[in-house]
Amino acid sequence: MDQKSKKIETVLSENRMFKPSESFQAKAHISSMQEYESLYKKSIKDNLGFWESIASELTWFKKWDSVLDENQAPFYKWFVNGKTNISYNCLDRHLDDATRNKAALIWEGELGDQRTLTYNQLFREVNRFANALKNLGIQRGDRVAIYLPMIPELAISLLACARIGAIHSVIFAGFSSESIRDRIHDCEAKLVITSDGGWRKGNILPLKNIVDEAVKDCPSIKHIIVVKRSHSDPFPCHIKEGRDHWYHRLIDGVSGECQAEEMDSEDMLFLLYTSGTTGKPKGVIHTIGGYMTYTYLTTKYVFDLKPEDIYWCTADIGWITGHSYIVYGPLLNGATVFMYEGAPNYPDKGRLWKIIEDYSISIFYTAPTAIRAFMKWGDNWPNKYNLSSLRLLGTVGESINPEAWMWYHQIIGKEKCPIVDTWWQTETGGIMITPLPGCTPLKPGSATLPFFGIEAEVVSEEGKDTEAGILAISKPWPGMLRGIYGDSERYKETYWSKWPNKYFPGDGAKKDKDGYFWILGRIDDVVNVSGHRIGTAELESIFVEHKKVAESAVIGIDHDLKGQCLIGFISLKDSVKATDDLASELKDWIGKKIGRFAIPEKIIFSQDLPKTRSGKIMRRLLRDIASGRTLGSVTTLADAGVVEQLKVKYEED
Ligand code: WTA
Repeated sequence: MDQKSKKIETVLSENRMFKPSESFQAKAHISSMQEYESLYKKSIKDNLGFWESIASELTWFKKWDSVLDENQAPFYKWFVNGKTNISYNCLDRHLDDATRNKAALIWEGELGDQRTLTYNQLFREVNRFANALKNLGIQRGDRVAIYLPMIPELAISLLACARIGAIHSVIFAGFSSESIRDRIHDCEAKLVITSDGGWRKGNILPLKNIVDEAVKDCPSIKHIIVVKRSHSDPFPCHIKEGRDHWYHRLIDGVSGECQAEEMDSEDMLFLLYTSGTTGKPKGVIHTIGGYMTYTYLTTKYVFDLKPEDIYWCTADIGWITGHSYIVYGPLLNGATVFMYEGAPNYPDKGRLWKIIEDYSISIFYTAPTAIRAFMKWGDNWPNKYNLSSLRLLGTVGESINPEAWMWYHQIIGKEKCPIVDTWWQTETGGIMITPLPGCTPLKPGSATLPFFGIEAEVVSEEGKDTEAGILAISKPWPGMLRGIYGDSERYKETYWSKWPNKYFPGDGAKKDKDGYFWILGRIDDVVNVSGHRIGTAELESIFVEHKKVAESAVIGIDHDLKGQCLIGFISLKDSVKATDDLASELKDWIGKKIGRFAIPEKIIFSQDLPKTRSGKIMRRLLRDIASGRTLGSVTTLADAGVVEQLKVKYEED
C-alpha cells in the first residue's frame, strides 16, 4: 500500500471527537458552531464586505478605493490605493491606551539571559534602528537580507524595515553561505543584518563568518550590520571598516522617533524564499495591506487572543510561521509574545516545559515533528513542571498523527486545552484551514474547516468535486502571495494554471462527511522534513554538480520523527567507487550548499536509476524500494537487477 492510501486509511478509521470545554467556550471570541457558520456564510457571500470591515479595524493613512481588483487576475490587488504602514499598526496603534506599558516581547536566550520590551520600548527600539537604517542610505523599496538568531533584534529588524518601506528577506540561520549568496543575488539586497553569533545546543553559530563567506561574491551588498549577541564576551568575528557596523554603535544617540512611511497597500512588505518543484528556490512576495489584514484576523480568532495571554510560537522567524505568528499577527493584536533563542533540549529535555512554567505561557504553538520528539523523550520531562497556565495548544507544518495529537492533548494540555491544527503555507501568508478553539469539535489529525473568507475544496486533477483528491482554494484572499520575485510567469504557472481561477497549493486532501479537511501531504516533488520544505529537484541539481556524481534522484519517505526524510539515489561516474566515505562526502556537500537541515537520511548508490522509456525517473518505484526494504548500511548498493525487475513490473502495471 502506498503512503497516501495508508494515510487515507488512518483518516477513515479516526472517529474520536473532542469538544471545547464549557469554560473555554464561554470566554471565546467565537463560541458556538452556529456563530462560526453564520459568520462563515456571511464572509463568503459578501466576501469583499467582510474583508473591508476587518481592514477598517486597523489604521490606514488613506482609505482604499476598492477592496479587490481582479482585472489582472491572478495578479490580484487588495485594498487598492489604500495607504498604511504595518509597523505603525503593530506599534504606534498601541501607544495611546493601556497597552503602552504592556510587555510586547519577552525573550529568553539559551543561556537563560532575559529581556522584556514593552510596547513603548519596542516602539523606541524599532524607531531608533529605522533611523539608523536610513542613515546608512537604506530607502523604501530597497531589499534587506536578515540572517539572525532568535533574538529581539530579529523582530526589531523586521519592524524597522517595514517602518521605512524597505523589503526584508529573512534567511533562516541554518542556511549555508551559498544559500545566502543565492538569495542575495536573486533580490539584489543592499544590506545584511546579522550577528557575531547565536546560541544553539550550547554551541555558538558563527553567523557573521558565514555571511562574510556569502558576500565575497555579492556586489549589491553595501553594508553589513552586526548585532553583538554576547556583550561581555563577543564571539570572534571580523569587522571590515567602512562596510561593517556594530548594531549598538549605529543606534547610539540616534532619535527614537522615526515617522512611519506612508506605504501603498500593494507595496512589497517582504520576500521569503521557499522550495518548489524546480531547482531554484522562489522568492515569495507578500505585500502590506492584505497580509496585515489577514494575519491580524487569523491570529485573533485562531489563537482566541485575550489581553492577558502570553503567547509562544516555537517556530523560527526565518520561516513564514515566525513572520506571521511571532511578529506581525500577535503585535497587530497588541499581544504579549514570548520568544526563545535556543534548542528545546538544552541544557536538558525539560527546557520548554520549564519556560512554560517560568513565564506562565498560556498559548503554545509548535510543530508535529517537535511533538513526536517530546513524546520520545518521555512524559517525565513535562510532568516535572507546572503547565497549568496553558489554555490553548496549536500545531503547524504537517498533518499531526492521531497518536501525537492524543499525547499533546493529554500530557501537555491535561485534556483541557483545545488543539488548533492549522493548515497553511508560505504562499498563503496566514492560516487557511483550522479549528476555532472555542467552537470547532476536534478530530485528531484533521485541520477541520476553512477560516472566514476562505473557500476550500477537494477536487480531482480535472477540477471536479471529489472526496479524496487535491486541495484547491477557489477565491482570492488578502494574505495570498502576490508573485514570485522576478518571475511572474512562474507564479502563474505554479499556482494558477492547474484549474481556471483556483489556487493550487500542491497538497493532497480528503473531505469527510462532516466537511472536515484532512491534509494528506504534498503531491508534488516537495518533501516536508521536520516541517522544512525541501524541493527534491533542488537537491538533485546540487548532487550532480559534484564531480563524482553522474545522476541523482531524491525522494521523500515516511519517517517516525521527522514526518518525512530524504533518500538520495546516486549513480556515480564510471570508475568512481561507492564507499561510506563518499556517502559522507556527498552529505556534507548538501550541508555546504543548502544547510545541514537538508542533508538526506541515506544515500543509496545505484548503477542506474530506473526510468520510463521517455527517460523520466520512476520516483514511485524508488519510494517503494526505499520504504519497503531494510537498507542496512548507509551505502547500500541497490541491486540493479532488482531495480530492473521492479521497473519491468511497474511498466507492465
Ligand atoms: C504542510 C508552513 C498538514 C503542507 C506554514 C503545506 C500542513 C506545507 C499543515 C507548507 C497542517 C502545513 N497539516 N500539512 N496543519 N501545515 N502543512 O510553506 O504540505 O513551510 O503545503 O508553511 O506544509 O509549508 P510552509
